[in-house]
Amino acid sequence: MSSDKTLKFPPGFLWGTATSPTQVEGHIENEWSNFTAQDGSNCRIACDHYHRYPEDIAWMQKLGTNAYRFGIEWSRLQSAPFAPLNQTELARYVDLLDRLRAAGITPMVVLHHFSNPPWINATGGWTNAATIPAFVDFVRQLVAALKERVYLWNTFNEPDTYACVAYLLGGFPPQLKWQLGKFRRVIAHMARAHVLASRVIRREGVMAGRKPEVGIAKNWTFFHAHKKFSPWDRATAYGCHYTFNKFVLDAFLGGWRRRASTFIGLNYYGRVRFHHFRAMIPASGASVKTLNDFGFVCDDMVERYPDGLEKILHYLRQKFRLPIFITEHGSASTDENFRANDLGQNLTALHHAIQAGVDVRGFFYWSLLDNFEWQFGYTKKFGLLAVDFSDEKLPRTPKPLAETYSKICQFNTLNKQ
Ligand code: FCB
Repeated sequence: MSSDKTLKFPPGFLWGTATSPTQVEGHIENEWSNFTAQDGSNCRIACDHYHRYPEDIAWMQKLGTNAYRFGIEWSRLQSAPFAPLNQTELARYVDLLDRLRAAGITPMVVLHHFSNPPWINATGGWTNAATIPAFVDFVRQLVAALKERVYLWNTFNEPDTYACVAYLLGGFPPQLKWQLGKFRRVIAHMARAHVLASRVIRREGVMAGRKPEVGIAKNWTFFHAHKKFSPWDRATAYGCHYTFNKFVLDAFLGGWRRRASTFIGLNYYGRVRFHHFRAMIPASGASVKTLNDFGFVCDDMVERYPDGLEKILHYLRQKFRLPIFITEHGSASTDENFRANDLGQNLTALHHAIQAGVDVRGFFYWSLLDNFEWQFGYTKKFGLLAVDFSDEKLPRTPKPLAETYSKICQFNTLNKQ
């Protein structure tokens, strides 16, 4: 699969980009509409992908990608529990899918990405079990409408991150802190909804000649102790690993529940090390100087740990024996050399795992565009394309990394570093 200079990926490998509705679309009515991020910004216009998706699809085509992972925003489609889908908004998503097909780009549709309709939030969101049947009804109607156009369904994006940042850390709406009971309830309800939604998708979503595929996207972060022998560092790291990795994987994929998924989506960024109960990463406010002094390599969010990608892929394969998509990987930095290195190292780790027999079917770069990075606003630059948010036309400009990624996608090959 490779030569001295190049690493070749399997034939038919999906090379894509990823976005989410709240972060790119704009003109949305959900819990984020009135949320003010740390930089004073909001998501009301975001990248205006809502209107500019034809242009963005043209960019994807220019990049040479053959897949796109994006969310369908529940709040646009239903105004009340069990209401029929809004036909105008549905037509927009159908048009987007048709344009993707015309561009030779395979869609992966995400059904929940950190946002809910206002009427779901008003009744307690995912802490309320009544959200489960409402969500399944949304999925049933959507699958009936889109089954000819979509076969890759990603039910929940990072339930672990959502439940943690919304109910433990206070960063996402409803901005609650240390509500461990609510955290667990949200995960349990989402896991139940995943099983039920999967049944609907696999029974009713058969597209001409193609079986639907269903999975969640799990964020996998390695949690390590900064000082191996410090009981506090170790306890914090283990507590996080247990709560966000083990408990969440068990809830969605443990025992008989594994049968509700035909693939695993893995979102992988890196590692968090703990010192005196503090997460030593830029996203938690640790100073870049301190991190550099310790020799940690970080983007503007977390510590990079490319070797970890290979490890987690082997672990998931051995534990679940399901095909895997890397549903998100990317870095936030204004240093494009750093980003190119980071991508090269992570794709090398991915290639090693594939060579060793892990069945990985695709890779989605986070993100196509610089966008609204939740509580951090527009300060984190994850895009392959820069967006000038000071210009009301929101022009897109490819960054150097876009060209690097484009070559990888077009040749299905990574040049060895
Ligand atoms: C993931 C989220 C995505 C984006 C990236 C940077 O955790 O799924 O929306 O915020 O991180």
